[in-house]
Amino acid sequence: MPDAADLLAIAVEIVRDAGETARRMRVEGVSGVATKSTDTDVVTAADRAVERQVVDALRVRRPEDAVLGEEYGASGTHGRVRWILDPIDGTVNYLYDLPQYAVSLAAEVDGRVVAGVVRNPATGAEWTATLGGGAFHGGTRLHGSPQTELAQALVGTGFGYDPARRVHQAGVLHGLLGHVRDIRRFGSAALDLCAAAGGQLDAYYEKGLNPWDHAAGGLVATEAGLVVAGLGGAPPGLDMVVAAPPALFKPLHDRLAELDAAGGP
Ligand code: IPD
Ligand code: CA
Repeated sequence: MPDAADLLAIAVEIVRDAGETARRMRVEGVSGVATKSTDTDVVTAADRAVERQVVDALRVRRPEDAVLGEEYGASGTHGRVRWILDPIDGTVNYLYDLPQYAVSLAAEVDGRVVAGVVRNPATGAEWTATLGGGAFHGGTRLHGSPQTELAQALVGTGFGYDPARRVHQAGVLHGLLGHVRDIRRFGSAALDLCAAAGGQLDAYYEKGLNPWDHAAGGLVATEAGLVVAGLGGAPPGLDMVVAAPPALFKPLHDRLAELDAAGGP
């Protein structure tokens, strides 16, 4: 069984170098902007360069592993280890020079995420976790928020790029806003999950996340003691990711289920 700590050490080294590429390319000016699923879903030359850099570095360090990246999809032979990469999570923030974007890299062994790192190259902040080994930020172990009342909870979320999905998400938000302290939409799911792990958000939910958005951040949140799941006992995935401390999970889950947050387009 590949050692989670060894995989994390490789991930951290690679993500630091790749994050520096993203930061430098942002300073030099964003280029190569194109759209993907909708007119608001952007990709830049930096997304592609970072993904290529990480995949190339993994090929050198771990030639036998598979990789799934947001921009170039799946590559490599599928052995026991698969890496899941979001080269820039928060691409719209990156485009607008808002310092809230991240490189996110997770390692799965036999389909289970065992190591993950999320790094914000704009601030140098970095979160890491290994399965069973805890979640850390700047050498400090994370334990999530102590909040127990949904009515007092600051809840992070995000919206997809498809207008029809956004309309549904707005309806959910409308039904939730009166039941929580407030809502935050920072623009990077990976960083939102890390914020929930560190108690800077009391909880987080979002519909429509892909594996690269939540693989590493989800492990950071889980290892900080949060429950990370979908609705109705489903695993976290495309339909819904909820991350909340145990005391907040059920009230938030039940409210989201009532609002059919995992439904719609
Ligand atoms: C997006 C961000 C955003 C979330 C979207 C994601 P991208 O990822 O994580 O916060 O709301 O659902 O698609 O496109 O910036 O990599
Ligand atoms: Ca993303």
